Amino acid sequence: MANEDYIIRCAEVNDIHQVMRINQTTLPENYPYPFFLEILKKYPKSFIVAEKDGEIAGYMMNRIEKGLPGVFTNKLHRLTKGHVVSIAVLPGHRKKGLGKRLMLEGMEAMKEYGAEEFVLEVRITNEAALAMYKELGFTVVRELRGYYHDGESAYLMSKRVEDIQNS
Ligand SMILES: CC(C)(COP(=O)(O)OP(=O)(O)OC[C@H]1O[C@@H](n2cnc3c(N)ncnc32)[C@H](O)[C@@H]1OP(=O)(O)O)[C@@H](O)C(=O)NCCC(=O)NCCS
Repeated sequence: MANEDYIIRCAEVNDIHQVMRINQTTLPENYPYPFFLEILKKYPKSFIVAEKDGEIAGYMMNRIEKGLPGVFTNKLHRLTKGHVVSIAVLPGHRKKGLGKRLMLEGMEAMKEYGAEEFVLEVRITNEAALAMYKELGFTVVRELRGYYHDGESAYLMSKRVEDIQNS
């Protein structure tokens, strides 16, 4: 099944239960229903899903935040950051380019909310995600020691919005 067979579209409230199931089966970081709902209500354009034959195969959920400038700028104002909160693709649908498509479309949507920089946290042992983020032009800002509840560290990664077209 080629990646073009999947529709990438904005998530709807009715999708949240499927998205939560994917989140719970693929990641240790899980959240209650109201957390997904709040992000969907606040940032509907950048909460996206990949769908095939009515089933959701993957999702990307993002938040827009104000934050200190990242590594790429010496601007003094607080930046508008597009924060990748969660992204996952079901195992049977991986390695077809879906993760990358979700990232690219999600980043375009975050630009519409004024994102000047994209940021994310990733487990330092998550080779697949790290490779994908690096391929998309993210670089490691620093290590966040013991970031996850089980004690594993994260890399904080960042990408300039201007670089999006070079991905
Ligand atoms: C990370 C994840 C979303 C990637 O989804 P995907 O649809 O398989 O990704 P793509 O097919 O678009 O692959 C994009 C790139 O990621 C990298 N990649 C993907 N799977 C990989 C693997 N198993 N090992 C190493 N690199 C991998 C490759 O660089 C790949 O590019 P290539 O196909 O040109 O080699 C998926 O593995 C996943 O859902 N993992 C569990 C949830 C998770 O870890 N989310 C991220 C939390 S920070």
